[in-house]
Amino acid sequence: MTIALETRTVTKTYKSDSGTINAVDGVSLTVKAGEFVALVGPSGSGKTTMLAMLAALLKPTSGGIFIDGHDLTKMNEGERAQFRREKIGFTFQANNLVPYLTAQENVELMLRLNGRFDRKSRERSNDLLARLGLAERLKNLPSQLSGGQQQRVAIARALIHNPSVVLADEPTASLDTERAFQVVETFANLIHEQQRAGVMVTHDLRLTQYVDRVVQMRDGQIVEIVDNRAAIAEQVVKHADNHHLEGIKVLPTMKAQPVMA
Ligand SMILES: Nc1ncnc2c1ncn2[C@@H]1O[C@H](COP(=O)(O)OP(=O)(O)OP(=O)(O)O)[C@@H](O)[C@H]1O
Ligand SMILES: [Mg+2]
Repeated sequence: MTIALETRTVTKTYKSDSGTINAVDGVSLTVKAGEFVALVGPSGSGKTTMLAMLAALLKPTSGGIFIDGHDLTKMNEGERAQFRREKIGFTFQANNLVPYLTAQENVELMLRLNGRFDRKSRERSNDLLARLGLAERLKNLPSQLSGGQQQRVAIARALIHNPSVVLADEPTASLDTERAFQVVETFANLIHEQQRAGVMVTHDLRLTQYVDRVVQMRDGQIVEIVDNRAAIAEQVVKHADNHHLEGIKVLPTMKAQPVMA
């Protein structure tokens, strides 16, 4: 699999009267196309700072950030803005939908901004909104949608322009548990199907069951990475061993996948 996103010893330092804060302190991380990663950790551990740097909204103090092999830190402001529009999709906790545009128009806006709106666009945005359970809400304004529905429109908007990297800061913050599970599962499916590199910040550890890896931050550093794919494959193997199931020949592939991927 191709590496879509890579950070090399990225740091972000804030200086204030009360001293210096290393909000992000030497983080190196790679995310491949088709891989969904959760960023977790206590309040103040640097998750939002990290995501803002990945979104090219905040410049690191040092280190490199590469998307599809291009170093964001080497671009000027104009290049970075264009790169962000084309290659990055994001949804932040405040979903920032345009209030006077319908759900459909909010999603299509990303294509219009990139000059990529064509005959197929409407069908694509409607399909995507339908996948997120909004087929009946295409023509509604944000003010006519629930918080959770607005958040799903924001997720569609983050994916519509085929970005390499999709970033989400607490995308389910205003959803009930059942809805949150559904939305993250659909989000994960779309990331896998469309081969995006996805990074989601979440406080809800139950949602990490849908991601491939869980990256735990503390004091601006990565303290642990849990590979879910290995755990899932292991469970399948264990289950098969215990029950002496037939079809054992599929097991080496299932076991090998997390190592290769
Ligand atoms: N603009 C800023 N100026 C000074 N310090 C900042 C600034 N932004 C963030 N910080 C500090 O950097 C550290 C990391 O903040 P960040 O927002 O990345 O944490 P977080 O992991 O997203 O936390 P939360 O879970 O509460 O959202 C914190 O100590 C915070 O106070
Ligand atoms: Mg945060």
